[in-house]
Amino acid sequence: MSARITASVFTSHVPAIGVAMDLGKTELPGWVPLFAGYERAREWIREDPPDAVILVYNDHGNAFSLEMIPTFALGMAASYEPADEGWGPRPVPTVPGHPELAAHIASSVIQQDFDLTLVNEMTVDHGCTVPLSIMFGLPETWPCPVVPLAVNVVQYPVPSGRRCLALGQAIRRAVESFDEDLNVQVWGTGGMSHQLQGPRAGLINEKFDTMFLDRLVDDPVGLSEMPHVDYVREAGSEGIELVMWLIARGAMDDLDGGAAAREIHRHYHIPASNTAAGLLLLENP
Ligand code: DHB
Ligand code: FE
Repeated sequence: MSARITASVFTSHVPAIGVAMDLGKTELPGWVPLFAGYERAREWIREDPPDAVILVYNDHGNAFSLEMIPTFALGMAASYEPADEGWGPRPVPTVPGHPELAAHIASSVIQQDFDLTLVNEMTVDHGCTVPLSIMFGLPETWPCPVVPLAVNVVQYPVPSGRRCLALGQAIRRAVESFDEDLNVQVWGTGGMSHQLQGPRAGLINEKFDTMFLDRLVDDPVGLSEMPHVDYVREAGSEGIELVMWLIARGAMDDLDGGAAAREIHRHYHIPASNTAAGLLLLENP
């Protein structure tokens, strides 16, 4: 008996997507095509709901400030309140944690030589709550516990793609040695191409995003070699968030000698706010 990783989810976490849901505006013509692409994902997750989600995301100066920026911070808490990002916290449920699974992941992954920061108390911002809303809608309580893994993509230097993929592989080994029969998903969030400030604000690069999605599916190892400067040049300064998707990808069977991941659903929409919004679901065979 042990936990296993059954699937991975990759999605943008644009705050305006959460706001559109919170304010009941998803039926407005501008939003309809984006949300239409989420239907299949919500159906899929209802068919085989995870017992826990390891949610890889970045904090945007809310739980952490510029005073202290951990590279990889694992949430160990029993619950996480939505952060106040300046307009009050989102009206979504408290995010339940999974302290036992988190403690096991910490112990296993740190013994595999990754220096995680352990976080016993933090709030979670749109980076974490918007992906939950995309996949689960607006329930009264979130349907499963979450182990948040916050990655620094805010202040350089940020971790390399190679390091992120390897961390995913280490997380996989951790989950598979957890002594409980759990269906675990790993989610990678952020991206796709976007730049929110400076002379290139508004940058979107569909060609790059398509290449990124294709290679994430078929060539994750090659993609993990892509240097940061390519993300920033091609996908904008905030496009670097995409490096986090490699953590979730690294946790799939095929990165551990198993059969190829199966692509279940892909959705790409321009724009959500200033961002190219992407969604990809992969399942282990
Ligand atoms: C936007 C996108 C993000 O990923 C983010 O963290 C903040 C804002 C945007 O497009 O508005
Ligand atoms: Fe972001």
